This record gives sequence, structure tokens and C-alpha cells, in this order.
Amino acid sequence: SGADFDLFRLTEEHDMLREAVRSLAEAKIAPFAAEVDEQGRFPQEALDALQANDLHAVHVPEEYGGAGADALATVIVIEEIARVCASSSLIPAVNKLGSLPVQLSGSEELKAKYLGALARGEGMFSYCLSEPDAGSDAAGMKTRAVRDGDFWVLNGVKRWITNAGVSEFYTVLAVTDPTLRSKGISAFVVEKGDEGVSFGAPEKKLGIKGSPTREVYFDNVRIPADRMIGAEGTGFATAMKTLDHTRVTIAAQAVGIAQGALDYAKGYVQERKQFGKPIGDFQGVQFMLADMAMKLEAARQLTYAAAAKSQRVDADLTFFGAAAKCFASDAAMEITVDAVQLLGGYGYTRDYPLERMMRDAKITQIYEGTNQIQRIVMSRNLP
Ligand code: CAA
Repeated sequence: SGADFDLFRLTEEHDMLREAVRSLAEAKIAPFAAEVDEQGRFPQEALDALQANDLHAVHVPEEYGGAGADALATVIVIEEIARVCASSSLIPAVNKLGSLPVQLSGSEELKAKYLGALARGEGMFSYCLSEPDAGSDAAGMKTRAVRDGDFWVLNGVKRWITNAGVSEFYTVLAVTDPTLRSKGISAFVVEKGDEGVSFGAPEKKLGIKGSPTREVYFDNVRIPADRMIGAEGTGFATAMKTLDHTRVTIAAQAVGIAQGALDYAKGYVQERKQFGKPIGDFQGVQFMLADMAMKLEAARQLTYAAAAKSQRVDADLTFFGAAAKCFASDAAMEITVDAVQLLGGYGYTRDYPLERMMRDAKITQIYEGTNQIQRIVMSRNLP
């Protein structure tokens, strides 16, 4: 755990972890992926299997009862789950997104309580940054937290909250000083059971249909002052630092989706015969597969490089996190579109998994900052 690794050769532990997650994902998650998408239901089987094998939040440090996986191991877990079911990959991914603010900036008490509960499988964690009128401009948020003695009182609406309603714990960004913009934003842990917390209807989405996305409402939610994560006014910086790390996990998700699509298409072209031979014998098809594999490997290398940076608290992480997310998600979109194309009419039907993978890939270009925002982040942080 936390071990350094050679960028060009994974450690034996990382290889073994990949094998273990791949076989678990194929046995326990893949069989439900189509149904979860079709019915738009939460992949409870995946959560159960991941929790039973301690893979639901591998990033939690050992001192808080977690597996203490390094950033690359976390990437491998998410990648291998996304290879069979993108919705299910959001379990470990969003658990990291939601809880990393606590891990990076929280008090020892908050870490022990909430990272411990997450590691023990007592509840998942979600991340509440975006609002109906504050998406790309995250610092333009309106949700307000007002101090009242030993409490903070929260009011506002968060939108696009992944796993809202199924998560027990929420990192919530709120304005504590409206005169200061980003420096007047603070972060808090809110529990699902806190009085005044409620949820909107599930969004009807193009993809990741198994992962509920809902609004979260805060109506005079009164929480103890020690639920603030870090000092007052540091919430926005914590939120941005968190995204530097977790954009790498979205890159991993994109790599996994693309690998799933490429693997399927590769198998299909060997079987499918036209003009008296497998279509994989035609150079036009071979060139498509070559381009898909090339883009996928480039995306994977950048993703693993970014994971290595994040492990080292490297000054370049902001650039690399954005670059990995942007590049890998664009690659995943291209690769899944081409995979559908290789299956022709069959690829366009729900009898085959490619159209699901194509729909699931699309979100990776949008969430945790659109790829246009990633370009802003990269250009402000050129290496
Ligand atoms: N690390 C540490 N601190 C940072 C930081 C970073 N990477 N980036 C910014 N900050 C801090 C700095 O302290 C900075 O202050 P200084 O001037 O002192 O340096 C302060 O934040 C303000 O930063 P900016 O001036 O850069 O802020 P901005 O208003 O120009 O916004 C932005 C920057 C990059 C556009 C940002 O708003 C952003 O990333 N937008 C996209 C939001 C996003 O990714 N949302 C995803 C939501 S989560 C999700 O999608 C998951 C889900 O569940 C669906």
C-alpha cells in the first residue's frame, strides 16, 4: 500500500489485484449490467459483491480501517469494474470523490468517524458541489451555511448528485461568507438522516442508468459545528484539490468502458462472416481496431501517469488530472462509437452491450468538469 511503482511496469500486487477484480466483475457484476441499464435500477448486486470483498472504497487508509490502496490500485479497481458495468464503477469512484475532502482536509475526529464508517460498509459517500445555476462556475454556488452557536444551518439545492439517496454521507459545499466568492465557501459532512435533507426525482439519463442522479435539498439542516471539513473558507480549495485526484478515477472509468467495448468488438469480428470470411480479415476492420487499441493504450498510460503523480503530491497533478480525464474520455467516446460501427446493425440494438457502453462513455466527457473546463484547467496549469 502506498508503494511507489515504475510507470512502465506495474507491480505484481497491481497485476494480481487486476486479475482478482476482473474475475469478480465478470462473475458478480457483468451478469446484471444489461438489466441494471434497462431497468434503471441501482446495482445492489455490485455493491454487495464489492463490500464483501472490500473493494467498495479501497482508497481509505489502513489507519481508518480501509484497504489503504494507492491511487493506481484504486484506478485499476474502477477500470476493471467499468469494463463490465460503468454504473457499478461509480460505487468506488464516487465513494472516493465524496470522502476525499474529509481525507485531505478533515479533522482526525471526522476522519475516524466517516472514513471508518465508509470502510466498514455502513454507508456510501456522495459529493455535493454543483447546483442548478452553478455547474462549470462552481464558485457561483448559492447554498448557504449560517453559523448558529455550536451549529451550522444549511439551506439550498444541489444538482447532479451521483448516488444521491443511496449514500448515507454527503460532502456539501456551501457559502459561509457571500462577500468573498471562492474564499467564502466551506465544506461540511451532512448525513442522509439529518433533519431537513431530502431528494429530488431520479434524473432520466442517456447512460449510467444504474447510478441514481438526483437533486439534494437542504431545508434548515442544522448540523454540529465540528462537521465542518477543515477551516472556514477553505472548502472551495478542498473541492478543487479533490477533483485533481478524482478526475484520474473518471479517466480510469473511461479506460475501462473503452476496454470493454474493444474486447467485445475484437471477439465479434472473428466470428462474424461476410463475403465468405470473418470481417476481421478485412484491412478496413483491422485498421479500425488498430486505431482503437492505440488510443486506448495512450489513454491508459496518461491515466496511470496521473495516478502516479497523485500518489506523490506532485505540483503537476492539476494538469495531469485534467489531461487524463479529458484525453481518456474523448478516447472512450471515439472507441465506443467505432465499436458500435464494427457490429453494424447489431451494434445499434440492445441485444448487444456496445450501445450501452457508447451511452455510458458520454458522461465521462461531462462530469467532474466538462472537457471544455478541463482545457481551462490545463491551460492555467501548463507543466
Ligand atoms: N487545488 C487547490 N486549490 C485550488 C485549485 C486546485 N486545483 N483550483 C483552484 N483552487 C483554489 C485557489 O485557492 C484559488 O484561489 P487563488 O486565487 O488564491 O489561487 C481558488 O480556488 C479559486 O480558483 P479559481 O480562481 O481558479 O476559480 P474559478 O472560479 O476561476 O474556477 C474552475 C475554476 C476550474 C473553472 C472551477 O470552477 C471548476 O473546476 N469548474 C468545474 C466544476 C466541476 O468540475 N464540477 C464537477 C462536479 S462533481 C461531479 O460532476 C460528480 C458527480 O457526482 C456528478
